[in-house]
Amino acid sequence: MRSRGFMFCGNWKMNNLLTESLNLVRGVMLEIDPSVFDFCEVVFAPSFPYLLAVKEIIEGTPFKLSAQNCYWEEKGAFTGEVSPLMLRDVGCSYCIVGHSERRNIFGEIDRWINKKVKALLSVGITPILCVGEKLEERREGKLFDVIYRQVTMGLDGVDLGSYRVVIAYEPVWAIGTGINAAPEDAEEVHSYIRGIVAEKYGMDVAGGMTILYGGSVNPFNIGDLMKMENIDGTLIGGSSLKVRDFVDIIYGGLEGKGVWR
Ligand code: 13P
Repeated sequence: MRSRGFMFCGNWKMNNLLTESLNLVRGVMLEIDPSVFDFCEVVFAPSFPYLLAVKEIIEGTPFKLSAQNCYWEEKGAFTGEVSPLMLRDVGCSYCIVGHSERRNIFGEIDRWINKKVKALLSVGITPILCVGEKLEERREGKLFDVIYRQVTMGLDGVDLGSYRVVIAYEPVWAIGTGINAAPEDAEEVHSYIRGIVAEKYGMDVAGGMTILYGGSVNPFNIGDLMKMENIDGTLIGGSSLKVRDFVDIIYGGLEGKGVWR
């Protein structure tokens, strides 16, 4: 079975101006013991205008850069959009796609998200494909149907034997609410997602896939979340905006996995 890496990605969303962005990255770089990179990847996802400035600071270090969204065309008359090739050009290794804020505020649908996944892979950027149910969907017993649809449509036509995709399970009701999913509940969905991938692509691919949890992660709950077998890291919103919290989540997460201290 392929081994899978752990990952901690700070999704800043539409926060931080230039100085705040640079201070945050410099602060994290000062606080992180370089040996954490033996166990995990640490990724910053600033908004578009600051990608290049962040890249310049992390150049030559193990820190990685992610965008928060993209369009699927290579170039052309698409005012206001950003192509995967542009993201690669400024040094992105990852790009978040299908975040619930994109789906629910901006009306993105699975078919578009699938096009973004494929466009990113075609230029060598690893998509972080976000999936997750709304509270009413969970209450109506549709949790697994929603996850199945988002995962299978997001990955439709993607050869995971040759290309890497990271999946992030982010229950919508847990995002920005201070109410994280209970570790056992998140684990149930992570294991379901790995099962979907195993069914379509085999155990080797499924076992090697990094599956992140996101939604109200903080330094106090990360340890128990990461104790779960199928939780390989986290996509962090609010807590990734503070140096201390972001760094403590990384240490706490690695401790939860039993690889640190
Ligand atoms: P919070 O950590 O602020 O709940 O946000 C999670 C998220 O949406 C990360 O993509």
